[in-house]
Amino acid sequence: MARTPSFTCSDCGAVHSKWSGRCDACGAWNSIIEEAPVVAGPGRRASSGGGRSIALSDLADETPPPPRTRCGIDELDRVLGGGLVPASALLVGGDPGIGKSTLLLQAAARFAETGLGVIYVSGEEAAAQVRMRAQRLGLASAPVRLATETNLRDILSTLDRERPDLAVIDSIQTMWSDSVEAAPGSVSQVRAAAHDLVTFAKRRGTAVVLVGHVTKEGQIAGPRVVEHMVDTVLYFEGERGHQFRILRAVKNRFGPADEIGVFEMTGAGLAEVSNPSALFLSDRDRESPGTAVFAGIEGTRPVLAEIQALVSPSPQPQARRSVVGWDAGRLAMILAVLESRCAIPFAGLDVYLNIAGGLRIGEPAADLAVAAALVSAREDVALPADMVVFGEISLSGALRPASQTENRLKEAEKLGFTQAALPERSAGAVPRGVGVRRFPDLVAFVGEMFGAG
Ligand code: TYD
Ligand code: MG
Repeated sequence: MARTPSFTCSDCGAVHSKWSGRCDACGAWNSIIEEAPVVAGPGRRASSGGGRSIALSDLADETPPPPRTRCGIDELDRVLGGGLVPASALLVGGDPGIGKSTLLLQAAARFAETGLGVIYVSGEEAAAQVRMRAQRLGLASAPVRLATETNLRDILSTLDRERPDLAVIDSIQTMWSDSVEAAPGSVSQVRAAAHDLVTFAKRRGTAVVLVGHVTKEGQIAGPRVVEHMVDTVLYFEGERGHQFRILRAVKNRFGPADEIGVFEMTGAGLAEVSNPSALFLSDRDRESPGTAVFAGIEGTRPVLAEIQALVSPSPQPQARRSVVGWDAGRLAMILAVLESRCAIPFAGLDVYLNIAGGLRIGEPAADLAVAAALVSAREDVALPADMVVFGEISLSGALRPASQTENRLKEAEKLGFTQAALPERSAGAVPRGVGVRRFPDLVAFVGEMFGAG
């Protein structure tokens, strides 16, 4: 029985009746692949009958936790969920030049020093370049074995023979499978290579790390399906021109997502930053209008960050809204709440918002600190320099408590802050050294702190 094949975009999953170079639905180039129709032959009717019976178990059945290997770089081990899990597949994404190869070479060397068999496959750099980097990082004597190759078949045969515990593939976009007729870096090549490498990881028990470059739109170049195939997706981020780098778990089957590891770029490679709050606040001026310190939680760890705002009369008919490190939609919402609930208008004013140090904050608990920085900038009134602020703002202007109040306050106390402004109903004990001011809504907060609204 002949059926017409269908054409599916491997980026967005849209189905087309014919092949074309560009997907109409998502605009991706070269992402449409032909998918063979499902054959419904005799004996394969619907999906019942003829299959083997699968063993079922209870949710309560005992499974030992996966064995883990820590490499000793704590910022990395924590982001992994407590160490590297055998047979796991990881994707490490980031902008070109952000430091992925450096990080992974350092990690490979440390894992090798713990006794794991480690192979580092570079498809981007010549062996001499990788060796030079290893020398610069002081890792030249680490027992990592190196290959420079892009042919996937040869790589897989080699890995199959060597059976390493960890294989790093730098990068997935340079890998090339001869079973797919497309250029390296194309969606179908990346997809095929990732699939083969992940299958290898599961079959042979090797942990496989795939390095992936990110496109300008912030996605791993190539199909999103790579993210679905792997167990763990880590993003390596940072602002160019800043020395901080943040490794963020966006998906982790073996640990908490949203965990971050903080590193500092140095001439000798990436150095761990075990107290990121001190770093993000280090160049904080005393009492400056337009700033507020947010006591946040990143993953399992409290992190303090300075939120900076600048408000100035706009020369344009359409005022500017510019945000770095926070969500632009959320900024618009806070501005609207300030205007309509607190009668503090921002029309005709350019608004710039920045999270210091290149951190990116996703927590709604930062709302109140953002509002504080905005009003402080607009009114030119500084908050007390030793105050932290947190809490979520609802559209009505009410303040909603954030999670982990106690942890946030403890971190603030540790860094020498003695005051905190937070939502009225926040639960949790207050450390002795911190004076807490509680507010039911934004109007009360703005009135008390700035005498405005
Ligand atoms: P690299 O690791 O090659 O980035 P990616 O693999 O993400 O493209 O790093 C880019 C450049 O930055 C490289 O020339 C080395 C330099 N670098 C340092 O000097 N120190 C550092 O700590 C890091 C991370 C990079
Ligand atoms: Mg690289």
